[in-house]
Amino acid sequence: MLKITLLKTTKDTAQTDRDVLMKPATSAEPIITKAFSFRLEIFKEPQAVAEAAATLLLQHISVNPKCVLLLPTGRTPLAMYAAMVERLQQKPLKLELVQSFNLDEFYGIPADHPGSYHTYMRNALFDHIAVPQANLHLLNGMAASPEAECAAYEAQIEAAGGIDLGVLGIGANGHIGFNEPGSEVTSRSHRVALQPGSRAANSYLFNDELESVPESALTVGIATIMEARQILLLATGPEKASALAALMHGAITPKLPASYLRLHHSVLILADEAAASEL
Ligand code: PGA
Repeated sequence: MLKITLLKTTKDTAQTDRDVLMKPATSAEPIITKAFSFRLEIFKEPQAVAEAAATLLLQHISVNPKCVLLLPTGRTPLAMYAAMVERLQQKPLKLELVQSFNLDEFYGIPADHPGSYHTYMRNALFDHIAVPQANLHLLNGMAASPEAECAAYEAQIEAAGGIDLGVLGIGANGHIGFNEPGSEVTSRSHRVALQPGSRAANSYLFNDELESVPESALTVGIATIMEARQILLLATGPEKASALAALMHGAITPKLPASYLRLHHSVLILADEAAASEL
């Protein structure tokens, strides 16, 4: 049965509760190995969110060196990747058997384009850690047939045994991956037209030239995300406050694809105070 436990759901949550939620980022407790039902933890600063997320990811890998990860891009996870790289340099982990799949990629630009998520992932993480190239999977934004590319990606995820841990950001419009408002819970990986706001939010990858941001993308579908055994969602900054509030308190609806996560059995949301300001 679905058990939803919201540790912080209202503005008037007692300060003591909040203190408990603000665990030290270096906590040795392997939180991620437990089923966490549906939980939200709030941290003062985005950096603390990043440190906590890095701790959880590295714990996850250390407990399950053959894990299959679903990884996000965007501004939010950059500090998490930086923290992971730094910690792995100090204390290497066995990474040879880790597999990763990225959530999405722009359609119509090659992997080596400076604005691609391939480039982002290489810069943020992949060039700095020892996961074999063959284990790092991203959708091909130049695929002649998006349908065939997406079907092949789904087959690769299945062949890997499914996603153990899905790490997500959230769009200001409530998207997860590039599943924009209107996405169905049954959707599989597919090509999607990007909303103007999503294109604008990504223009920093294209020299702030909105017209250079591709108009569509390939994204892992909602159903694929929902099949991940555990989900970790990161939300930082005031521009995420209304989407996070709707995720926590609003209807479960295609209008806010992130709301589907309330139907998942094991979700941990890490937010900073700015993103949590409308809860
Ligand atoms: P952002 O993107 O981290 O750049 O805000 C998040 C997302 O769109 O999922």
